[in-house]
Amino acid sequence: MIDKKSPLPIYYQIEEDIKQRISDGEYQPNDMIPSERILSENYAVSRMTVRQAITNLVNEGVLYREKGRGTFIAENKIEQSLKGLTSFTEDMKTRGMTASSKLLDFEKVTASGEISRKLEIEENAEIYRLQRIRYADQKPMAIETNFLPAAMFPNLKKENVRGSLYDYVEKNKRQKIGKASQIIEATIANEDQSSLLEIPLGSAVLHIERHSFLEDGTPFEVVKSSYRADRYKFSSDITRG
Ligand code: GLP
Repeated sequence: MIDKKSPLPIYYQIEEDIKQRISDGEYQPNDMIPSERILSENYAVSRMTVRQAITNLVNEGVLYREKGRGTFIAENKIEQSLKGLTSFTEDMKTRGMTASSKLLDFEKVTASGEISRKLEIEENAEIYRLQRIRYADQKPMAIETNFLPAAMFPNLKKENVRGSLYDYVEKNKRQKIGKASQIIEATIANEDQSSLLEIPLGSAVLHIERHSFLEDGTPFEVVKSSYRADRYKFSSDITRG
């Protein structure tokens, strides 16, 4: 299994071996991996080498550690294409998962400068601010805070955002959502995010800001989302030339 004569570092070979066992199905998500001592015996290498391999796999999100319990196989990350403008509900449905939400906040507030500019409304005009935890098969995936112009959705109620917001918007405005621009940045979980997303403080979180428009070009939402980086990765096809 481990080739000590190979130019590949031993810790790297261990990493590859663990990944292979995951793709072969020998290790399943949330299975505990053997202790450092057992692994070092099995691979006939030092504990330090095993530790290096494990740390790299934890940093990569392949494994996760739980204090006092051990090291476990992480769930497969959800791969989200950066191509289509889709809703969370649709994204989960295409993966055979069930989307649900917990509404943390639903309020009419006045728009800040940044939000009013993006929504093309007067500064201090009323907006709805709604914050939801988004779940896939009951596991928290993201926290999303949406800002919507109140004048555009005069009858918006809590009940309307328990399911898909995009569904409500398209039915209510009788037109499709057209386009959006978004920015993805790396951040780390603060206390609130760590307790709501059920991840350790300081874990990697992907911050996504989306600015969305209806088909006729009217901006209808600004969204600030925090996605669990251990459950999400983004992909895109790119061409040169
Ligand atoms: C995704 C996007 C959000 C958008 C949401 C709508 O999660 N990141 O910007 O607001 O989908 O989802 P739904 O229609 O399920 O409420």
